[in-house]
Amino acid sequence: MYGPDTPVLRDFALSTPAEDRLSGKVCAIQSSITLEVSAIAARLKREGHHVIAFGAGEPDLPTPQPVQDAGIDAIRKGLGRYTAAAGLPELRAGIAKRFTDDGYPHEPSEVMITAGAKPALYLAFYALLNDGDECVYPAPFWSSYSEMVRAAGGTPVHFSTSAEMDFQPTVEGLRGVLTDRTRVLLLNSPNNPTGTVYTAETLEAIAEVVRERDLFVLTDDIYQHLIYTDEPFTNILDVAPDLQDRVLIINGLSKSHSMTGWRIGFAGAPAPVIQAMTRVQSQIAGSPPSITQHAALAALDDPSPAGRKESLDQRRRLIIAELAKLDRVVTPEPRGAFYIFPSIAAHLGKTYEGTRIDDANVFSKVLLQEKLVATVAGDAFGAPGHIRLTYCTSEADIVEGVRRLGEMISELK
Ligand SMILES: Cc1ncc(COP(=O)(O)O)c(C=O)c1O
Repeated sequence: MYGPDTPVLRDFALSTPAEDRLSGKVCAIQSSITLEVSAIAARLKREGHHVIAFGAGEPDLPTPQPVQDAGIDAIRKGLGRYTAAAGLPELRAGIAKRFTDDGYPHEPSEVMITAGAKPALYLAFYALLNDGDECVYPAPFWSSYSEMVRAAGGTPVHFSTSAEMDFQPTVEGLRGVLTDRTRVLLLNSPNNPTGTVYTAETLEAIAEVVRERDLFVLTDDIYQHLIYTDEPFTNILDVAPDLQDRVLIINGLSKSHSMTGWRIGFAGAPAPVIQAMTRVQSQIAGSPPSITQHAALAALDDPSPAGRKESLDQRRRLIIAELAKLDRVVTPEPRGAFYIFPSIAAHLGKTYEGTRIDDANVFSKVLLQEKLVATVAGDAFGAPGHIRLTYCTSEADIVEGVRRLGEMISELK
């Protein structure tokens, strides 16, 4: 008897009725590649394999104790209720003070709280882009930007940077992609995936173009407190304070306080932009998570808890040293965030036990399947020929993971 499981019928079916109902908008969006890799790695772990998790960008350090305690206290006090759509007034005031202390003056009315930096980014794109408007950003870039811009109706456009130029965005690169539809420039420093940190000179030059072309600037500063050299963190407002009326800063506690699953982010921008983003948030999310907001109040006094940077830096140095031992793997040295982005281009075109490694996607898939090492292919970050490794894992796993990577490379024909 033929049934839905009959191979012939399944092979010929174009789509299921439910798939037919999906909108064109949603079909254009790909799911998060890093979360997909993490899900596969988690499944392999559940099956009892020793998987090395270089996939997701999630610190393995604990959430600071005062933050945990404040969260528990909030639950006990019964504070798990809706808050104002823009977030708790005292938290908005605290974040406004933090921005101001950092040198970017903000009033509480110019700040909103969101359930992670991701929703803040999406709301910003939604608020700033009309259909078809272009948002430009340097490549390599964090993989979610393109999908979020698209989901908000905009058009993502990127321009190249190079390892030789420390992945600093250049004026020539930026000018090369500007059109009369360009509305927003997006900057991310310290950068995911390269770990580069933008210099004041870079940002001064970029600011000139922003003024000339009347762009709005979105800065994703989520790794602000994770710079391992003595160079300073620089936001475009440090070198161009005159741009304050057209800069939107996004930040959050996921990375700085290991609060990835708590979901807490924030945005600072001119009040009309914050009001517009809040209107949307009020309809689609109601309010940011209340328990997390109460816990976040306890994080305000300590933007960069002691010991975290040192611990990550130790692992950064270790992974740099381990990768340097590998044959023809070229690794630009990251100075911020917690990723490393080696080029494996010299090994593409080879085969692994009969499978041709045409690109970094196949490379990282084989590495996961055969050596149980989870990485993310650079293609998703606009940088084919690279793989991204997150080094927020134990030193033993770093050594073992890079050893397995080297083993796979030595087995390529
Ligand atoms: C550059 C960048 N921005 C934003 C985020 C999202 O942070 P959150 O977990 O707070 O949504 C990430 C997470 O990986 C990131 O790498």
